[in-house]
Amino acid sequence: MREPLLVRERGDLDEALSRWRRMEEAVAFVPTMGNLHAGHHRLVERARTFAPRVVVSIFVNPTQFGPNEDYLRYPRTLAADLAGLASLGVDLVYVPEVADLYPLGVDQATRIEVPGLSEILCGASRPGHFAGVASVVLRLFFAIQPVVALFGEKDYQQCAVIRRLVSDLRLPVAIERVPTVRDTDGLALSSRNQYLSAEERKRAPELYRTLETLALALDAGRRDFPVLEQEALMRLERSGLVPDYVAVRAEETLAGPDPAARGALYRILGAARLGTTRLIDNIGWPAA
Ligand code: PAJ
Repeated sequence: MREPLLVRERGDLDEALSRWRRMEEAVAFVPTMGNLHAGHHRLVERARTFAPRVVVSIFVNPTQFGPNEDYLRYPRTLAADLAGLASLGVDLVYVPEVADLYPLGVDQATRIEVPGLSEILCGASRPGHFAGVASVVLRLFFAIQPVVALFGEKDYQQCAVIRRLVSDLRLPVAIERVPTVRDTDGLALSSRNQYLSAEERKRAPELYRTLETLALALDAGRRDFPVLEQEALMRLERSGLVPDYVAVRAEETLAGPDPAARGALYRILGAARLGTTRLIDNIGWPAA
């Protein structure tokens, strides 16, 4: 299979894209921050089923990290990432410098807010995070002009923010959500898992197990959501995690659940700290 074209500058990107546009070859796009694993690869494989051309971006976006977060130590593994993508039929990998994507610099950059969805759940403990995500994804959409973009369910709230952004601005791009790829013990694959010590790594699947236990309680007919959420938080604490939240939410809007609703589709979401690592996960209910 062909090596993907590695592009670092906007001019070279525009040149490749206009060549494809002349041939009416549409682009499917997978934005990433690199340190690619099987979860990212799954998105790329799905992307190939949607369009003749696949573009992957690798960019550790400074505007979505808080001042005390891991921007500087976020794992950067470009050579391995490119090697991993080589066999997946990617046409182009866009690896911009910060100045290429933010020509005015990060502080002067135009930002886009998605209110309502950005302050809840993960947004409550990561102020500004989803504005940073929405802003960089919009920039990348303008640069790449894909017909479809793929996002992982692992970052479920991120998917919701991007879908709202796209529908509100009527952007001509379809958003595809791809199920979470997990390790054999259930832990959702994440670039941040490598921060875990061996001991922490053993405990980490407890987040997923806790969400699964909550799903079983819903299966059994319980709808006392605040109690269920409290039980889940206590279980996480007992396992040595520091819970941020566990929440049952309406699948599409992420609004609080209605105990009286029949046939409702829920998302069970959780976040917890293990040492210095922040883990997130979520599952659908009823199970697909
Ligand atoms: P990153 O964390 O690199 O993730 C890139 C994409 O891969 C996201 O859509 C994410 O949900 C998906 N992904 C990560 N782990 C996954 C897993 N275990 N299974 C399935 N999909 C998985 O998310 C970001 O980057 C950034 O916020 C970005 C959208 C690139 C904007 O900067």
